[in-house]
Amino acid sequence: GFMAGLQTRLLDMGDSAARAKPPIYILYGSQTGNAEGLARTAAGNAKQHGLEPVVKALDEVELEEFGNMRRVMIITSTYGEGEMPDNAQLFWEALSAGHAERIEEMSFGVLAIGDTGYDGFCEAGKNLDTRLEQLGAKRLLARVDCDVDFEEPANTWIEAALPLFAEVEGGPDEVAATPATEVAAPVASAYNRKNPYASALAVNRRLSGQGSGKEIRHYEFDLGDSGIHYEAGDALNVVPENNPELVSLILERLDAKADAAVAKHDQPLVELLARNFEISTPSRELIAAVEQRAGNEDLSRIVQSGDKAALEHWLWGKDVLDLLQLNPSLALSADEFVALLKPLQHRAYSISSSSLANPDRIHLTVASVRYASAGRQRGGVCSTYLADRVQEGDTAGIFLTTNKSFRVPVDKSAPVIMVGPGTGIAPFRAFLQERRASDADGRNWLFFGDQTRASDFIYEDELTAMMKDGVLNRLDLAFSRDQSDKIYVQTRMRENGKELYAWLQDGGHFYVCGDASRMAKDVDQALHDVVAEHGGLDVEGAIAYVNQLKRDKRYLRDVY
Ligand code: 2AM
Repeated sequence: GFMAGLQTRLLDMGDSAARAKPPIYILYGSQTGNAEGLARTAAGNAKQHGLEPVVKALDEVELEEFGNMRRVMIITSTYGEGEMPDNAQLFWEALSAGHAERIEEMSFGVLAIGDTGYDGFCEAGKNLDTRLEQLGAKRLLARVDCDVDFEEPANTWIEAALPLFAEVEGGPDEVAATPATEVAAPVASAYNRKNPYASALAVNRRLSGQGSGKEIRHYEFDLGDSGIHYEAGDALNVVPENNPELVSLILERLDAKADAAVAKHDQPLVELLARNFEISTPSRELIAAVEQRAGNEDLSRIVQSGDKAALEHWLWGKDVLDLLQLNPSLALSADEFVALLKPLQHRAYSISSSSLANPDRIHLTVASVRYASAGRQRGGVCSTYLADRVQEGDTAGIFLTTNKSFRVPVDKSAPVIMVGPGTGIAPFRAFLQERRASDADGRNWLFFGDQTRASDFIYEDELTAMMKDGVLNRLDLAFSRDQSDKIYVQTRMRENGKELYAWLQDGGHFYVCGDASRMAKDVDQALHDVVAEHGGLDVEGAIAYVNQLKRDKRYLRDVY
């Protein structure tokens, strides 16, 4: 009968629990979704090794729980110059200050991803790796630090790590694997860095006025029959080509022919310089070679002093050609020169559309980087490639990076507060489209700004329409150069602090996108101040309040 059936089922559950696979905790620290994507790939593969994967962001793990884990795979990127990603900061604070009971029984491995173009390469992974060893956990295999071409070394490391984790004996009182909420490996998109989708550019249009100090453009990429599915919050990678004028100048300087053959490469020199190698930002190897051979006193003094800031300052605005021109008699063969270059990387942009509203297209909102230096006009590699060299109807290589950590709230009635000045508006345009298309009834509040209202109020018509139709409940604008004193988005946050705090108290989700070095820091401070003032909290209290928002995933940032 009914009871018997129920009994059987309970027994079955008991039985399967007894035979449960040993858990492996795959913990990630991820800013843009790459480390999280690797964690999910690792989880998919873990099952084939007889392990039960549990995937979590590091900040979702309490120290006490952490100490009970026996198999821990950490996959983390590094944010900025050696910092922890946003969703690993609280965990790191706790781990670096505290001690987890029983951690000696843990076996761990760390996979770090980073960018050698920044100081503090893979620092977050290095710090976690070192700290876990200090605390007495057992390192199962050596850490690997991956550069921007992380896919291959990362997957090799994961494949080497899983069999080792599978051999780790569980303690008798090992915590049972909490059934993983979401461990399915992502359906790997057919398109990636090595195999981008050739998308037809449907729209390439200037948004900012001609009088603006900036050139912000709107792009729409046709997804055609690619089968690419995206969500608001994801990023689109664009595979750029270098400026042909710069390529010509470099060929001239090398005194080399465009079709010259290059050792170890199938393509002729001009192709390599146009598509395969970075010729704007000089590589470390090129800087070192030029320093040794060009006999430039300034450069030699700075390099030999080891003063990184001074070197960065000296390099500011200088491209590969500038380095070659330091000494006109410095002769490099095409083979030597190409061997000193680093691969040309794709550039990632926050998507500014929602697939619910635009299933067939991906929109981007990109500022063209342009400046003149030493009598030559220069530009950002990818932003000027898109602006100047991809006409409507032309194709460009694209592929997606999913960012599951940057999403509209699952709860459609939750209030949303978005701070996105300049091109930081991109994901919030997507969020607003998404909230409208999904009939989300939660309130939406956008803080936007830039230099001047007359030229920089991008998407004004759309935002005004959204205010009218009620999708956008509040729009607070901060134009910094329309008056003598600077008005920034955080100025507006403070002015409206009482209401902002009330929205947070109502379960509001707080999002920030844009400049990391100044804006996001100041907005973070303003958030703390607002919470302190209107919540009646002292400094520690405000920090605790904001940390809880982070833990609840109600304070999310897409900053760069
Ligand atoms: P400013 O250049 O006039 O000082 C987008 O670049 C906008 O961000 C501009 O209006 C710029 O103002 C402003 N901005 C500059 N520094 C900022 C900061 N620390 N916080 C917020 N906005 C800032």
